[in-house]
Amino acid sequence: MKDKLKQTYFIETWGCQMNEEDSEKISGMLKNMNYKRTLDREDADIIIFNTCCVRENAEQKVFGNLGAIKALKRKNPNLIIVVSGCMIQQESMAEEIAKKFPFVSLLIGTHNAYKFPEYLNRLKNGEKQIIDIWKQEGEIVEGLPIDRKSSVKAFVTIMYGCNNFCTYCIVPYVRGRERSRKPEDIENEIKELVAKGYKEVTLLGQNVNSYGKGLEPSINFAELLKRIDKIEGLERIKFMTSHPKDLSEEVIDAIANGRALCEHIHLPVQSGSSRILKKMNRHYSKEQYLDLVKMIKEKIPNVALTTDIIVGFPGETEEDFNETLELVKEVEYDSAFTFLYSIRKGTPAAEYEEQIDEKTKHERFERLVEVVNEIVIRKNKSFEGKTVEVLVEGLSKNNEENLMGRTRDGRLVNFKGDKEDIGKLVNVKIVRSQGFSLLGDKII
Ligand code: 5AD
Ligand code: SF4
Repeated sequence: MKDKLKQTYFIETWGCQMNEEDSEKISGMLKNMNYKRTLDREDADIIIFNTCCVRENAEQKVFGNLGAIKALKRKNPNLIIVVSGCMIQQESMAEEIAKKFPFVSLLIGTHNAYKFPEYLNRLKNGEKQIIDIWKQEGEIVEGLPIDRKSSVKAFVTIMYGCNNFCTYCIVPYVRGRERSRKPEDIENEIKELVAKGYKEVTLLGQNVNSYGKGLEPSINFAELLKRIDKIEGLERIKFMTSHPKDLSEEVIDAIANGRALCEHIHLPVQSGSSRILKKMNRHYSKEQYLDLVKMIKEKIPNVALTTDIIVGFPGETEEDFNETLELVKEVEYDSAFTFLYSIRKGTPAAEYEEQIDEKTKHERFERLVEVVNEIVIRKNKSFEGKTVEVLVEGLSKNNEENLMGRTRDGRLVNFKGDKEDIGKLVNVKIVRSQGFSLLGDKII
């Protein structure tokens, strides 16, 4: 038996930033229980897979990884294997996993993740397998320990769940209905982060623009942003995700007039065809989206706009797809996440006839990526010779001689600087664009 103090856990996270933040909470709980993180799963006493189910390939990866660690469990019968997150929150998925992979010790859903230490103690006291998936979301649990990846920038969840039911999306079924954290709890968390030296926060929610519904006294997202913008010492505020139907002029004005609020909006369009948007249940047309973009660009000069786009939604014709390409060219996104439509059981679109064949989907996907990349590369090139403010996050991935950080509008910058600059804001003159990132020199 290993010394308890030296017990280790390995955690792998799939999916969005909300899942990343959930993993940071699981890590926080484990560190409180004296566990140490390891990056080598062969060496771990606990292996945790925090899963996603937004697209099918995320699920396939989890199955693949579970298959691969079976041998580790055989070697070490005391190994605790945990599967958590969105994937197992789906109808009968936990039972399916328990049947296929009987060696899994704990299956825990998104609504009761805070109970992790309790379940872990039960397992250590001899229980072989625990499955606990709550169908209903409970109260928001505040004050969980959290072991953040970065000491410079932090994710702060401001609301959970989603009420939108876009017809392709599984999220409302696995994350439950919208509930917002109290503004005081959010402010206190951010003040504590600032006291620890954090410079940037990203406020998270599936649709941050509907923040505050049901809270007493009433507050909306713009008001929350303005309150957070007043926190002394906080240099940057970012947020995601914004549903275009709910992004208010008040929020745009808050950014335009704000101090720490960054000039970046992630505004998923999903499709450039009003016909498809209707089938997606998005509640805006192409024209309404473009009007919104126009207002944002007028009010926030130099704003960076990023987006999510789904290719091959059921019934998408060549004409619909061309409208997406045209919209991308018109908006000129600074970056875009592009996805192949993936059938999600239980969502309305899974039942739609006219599913698009894989070949057409892939062919359209490649055409879209080409158009997106051309714009992203051209926009990054226009930064050559300019000076930008960079929040230094750490050493560069590819060249440890360099530092890396991001601009206020989210661009990745590698530059020559001093290690003491990590965690600070520095001005960097961009020497060259490397296509999807920028290379520069620190201005002293
Ligand atoms: N297929 C493909 N992409 C999807 N997304 C959500 N559901 C699906 C799906 N079934 C994408 C959307 C969303 C992003 C997080 O994932 O673009 O904005
Ligand atoms: Fe899914 Fe739509 Fe909710 Fe985003 S807004 S999480 S795409 S249902």
